[in-house]
Amino acid sequence: MNPFPDDFRWGVTTSSFQIEGATQEDGRGESIWDMFIRRADVIAGNGNADVACDHYHRWQEDIDWLAKLGVNAYRLSVAWPRILPEGTGRIEQRGLDFYDRLVDRLLSKSIEPWVCLYHWDFPLSLFHRGGWLNRDSARWFADYVELVVRRLSDRVTQWITFNEPQVFISEGHYWGRHAPGLHLPWKEVLLAGHHSLLAHGYAVAAIRSSAVRSPSVGYAPAGPVSLPLDNTADDIAIAYAESCAVTHETIWNMAWWLDPVVFGRYPADGVQMFGAASPTAQPGDMEAISCPLDFLGLNLYWGPRVDATHRGREAIWNYPADHPRTAFGWAIVPEIMHWGPRFMAKRYGLPIVVAENGMSCLDAVATDGGVHDGARVDFITRHLTMLRSAISAGVDLRGYFHWTLLDNFEWAEGYRQRFGLLHVDFPMGTRTAKDSFFHYRDIIASGGTSLPVVSPGIVEPIGWEDCTVP
Ligand code: GCO
Repeated sequence: MNPFPDDFRWGVTTSSFQIEGATQEDGRGESIWDMFIRRADVIAGNGNADVACDHYHRWQEDIDWLAKLGVNAYRLSVAWPRILPEGTGRIEQRGLDFYDRLVDRLLSKSIEPWVCLYHWDFPLSLFHRGGWLNRDSARWFADYVELVVRRLSDRVTQWITFNEPQVFISEGHYWGRHAPGLHLPWKEVLLAGHHSLLAHGYAVAAIRSSAVRSPSVGYAPAGPVSLPLDNTADDIAIAYAESCAVTHETIWNMAWWLDPVVFGRYPADGVQMFGAASPTAQPGDMEAISCPLDFLGLNLYWGPRVDATHRGREAIWNYPADHPRTAFGWAIVPEIMHWGPRFMAKRYGLPIVVAENGMSCLDAVATDGGVHDGARVDFITRHLTMLRSAISAGVDLRGYFHWTLLDNFEWAEGYRQRFGLLHVDFPMGTRTAKDSFFHYRDIIASGGTSLPVVSPGIVEPIGWEDCTVP
């Protein structure tokens, strides 16, 4: 029997700032990324996103590509400063109209829109008022969310509050490699993180109270899960424990971002480790943050392999030099699609959606006019086969969203990392389907049955399911 359920969502994901361009058009306000890009040497090749994939003008063509791909779901993000140029107050109708048209056209092609409300384009005006460090940011975000939900929820039912809080808080506020480019001490980083969690919780409540059609609400943290080095009960138990732990001085983990949202408390190990830098919640905060969710989105790319001697930071580097990697240098570990959903479903008890997974390759148009990205073809096969094994193992897996439709503006990497199923010729914008586009199309058309029957399997040792973490 085919383990993929009939209503499985076969999708792709994009994000507003990475594809839209038209940063000065139709009254859009600036975001922190527009500001950050103006600094010298922060973006590879000194690229900017003024045009990007020009999706703001080519959106109809792009939806036609989605239809050719045969996806039944498409995850897009809404640009907050297109809707509220100053972040609060004055509404820009032309911004709302853009997403309105997108939604209508998607639905006309029988593609279900999944709307992510924040993929990092924070309004610059609100950064001038303190950004995520200002506690009011939680209310600002919820008010914006309510506006979008009032406009689209007669047609949209699938909502995602945040994409990857680990990344926008730590890369933006600690490492400074992403907008707004700050290098703050942990106390302030964690305060910004706390306000973003509060914003998430207020947003979930706002969606539930203002949606016209009954909403399904999720959240999409990045997925730094650990993987067993060997397929033994001991290694699996260690990998599970590591995937739920906050023991290293970083917020690149799951528990800091999921324990508050699901359990209404920060993880004890993390609070102990961060000590006085840990945020102080005000009365009612943790209840607000843990407003119930319908699903958990996971953005799964890669993870370290661990065993009793290789844990935490030690493990990050434990891939041999000849291990297969993406153009970004990320180790290719398809079993993340098995263990990521299983560990997170076990820990948090929510249905799972893989909200992002993909790879960058050095793609180019060949003399025959095609784009022969064999590595991505193989990546998709291996990852979906592993995902199937997680479904067979009993995980309530609702969908898979490939990152991404188009080669695009890859943040600090500019245009040098190509993640698309469609090759984009910058700055002309011409789209060319890669071999992986046709490959994924055929898998979707078969409902997953065209995947190889035999996968490089996970032979499950008895007993690991009994392991627990505090
Ligand atoms: C992220 C974001 C995407 C990236 C993708 C590849 O995961 O960082 O969600 O915007 O482009 O993940 O790095």
